[in-house]
Amino acid sequence: MSEIRISKDIYYIGANDRDIDFFEGQYIVPNGISYNSYLIKDEKNVVMDTIDKSKVEEWNEKLEKALDGETVDYLVVSHLEPDHAYNVEFLAKKFPNMKIIGNAKTFAFMPQFFNIEDLEARKIVVKEGDTINIGKHTLQFFMAPMVHWPEVMVTYEQSEKILFSADGFGKFGALDVDEEWDCEARRYYFNIVGKYGDQVQSLLKKASTLDIKMICPLHGPILKENLEHYINLYDIWSSYKPENTDGVFIACASIYGNTLEAANKMAEILKDEGVKKVTVTDLVREDMAEAIEDAFRYDKIILASSTYNMGIFPPMHQLLMHLKGKNYQNRKIGIIENGTWAPNSGKCIKEILGEMKNITVVDPTVTIRTKMTEENIENMRYLAQEILK
Ligand code: FEO
Repeated sequence: MSEIRISKDIYYIGANDRDIDFFEGQYIVPNGISYNSYLIKDEKNVVMDTIDKSKVEEWNEKLEKALDGETVDYLVVSHLEPDHAYNVEFLAKKFPNMKIIGNAKTFAFMPQFFNIEDLEARKIVVKEGDTINIGKHTLQFFMAPMVHWPEVMVTYEQSEKILFSADGFGKFGALDVDEEWDCEARRYYFNIVGKYGDQVQSLLKKASTLDIKMICPLHGPILKENLEHYINLYDIWSSYKPENTDGVFIACASIYGNTLEAANKMAEILKDEGVKKVTVTDLVREDMAEAIEDAFRYDKIILASSTYNMGIFPPMHQLLMHLKGKNYQNRKIGIIENGTWAPNSGKCIKEILGEMKNITVVDPTVTIRTKMTEENIENMRYLAQEILK
């Protein structure tokens, strides 16, 4: 097993998981996921978070190799979710003199996960801005509540100017995958922390006061160069601004294919109108997490749905519930509804959109009665022109 150092004193002891079926019980990760964990070696040795239960052995081997006979003095628990904290108890047993660093919330939740008998004596409770010196390195802690859970905190290592950013700046995909960061980081961001844009904004404000040379997240690659690019994307995403203003996202939920045919026709019309990028998603068959990502990515959206039980066909209803739950806002939306005897999905979609902030529903709603007609196509042209205004 080769040793990976991210600097002279900091070792990467995380692992790639390519066997996982669903990350966090719901997200497909075609290229796996990495659980990152780090060891800082100094006068005192510090482990920055542990690992998922599936990778204990590999992580433990890497830790022992990097320790080279030394002990662990501190464990920093940035986040208690089991993909990182599963081994807190294991490590506490392995190193009985090790102190555990967390905040008040970390230790409020910890007994719900583990039974560490001498926890009271071993815990070090840190608050906003507190520092712990471990030799050449000094760790400074900043609270990041709800970036993803309430107990989340990030650690800034002052001498090497490294931000250990917890789930922030994370990405789906194992570390040995060669793929663009933005796409899978965006899908990760909107699905996992999308609801907490305000809290991410607060964290970005704190980060802007620090001189950061490297970001070490708990998932995905360590970011060393061009940090402005990643920070800028996080700023756009967390402020609910669209990232792309030159495209249209069409989400479609179709029972027999007639609505999908209309969605594809709508894409053709938009391209004829000069739109550079039109993305059509078949919500019945494609990844919901990606549809959520695209709904946030673009500023103009078309929702095309069959009517079902006098309401919205479930895959579209599901998308809308996800978006509502994630504080979706600030977008222009056009609607195409379909129904053989009583098309009603458009009205129901509008009701849900009405509960979201700053959503402009663009007229006309296109109403199809089974198969699209020439008149429907005319209306779609009109809708395209209106949404592009
Ligand atoms: Fe990667 Fe919120 O755990």
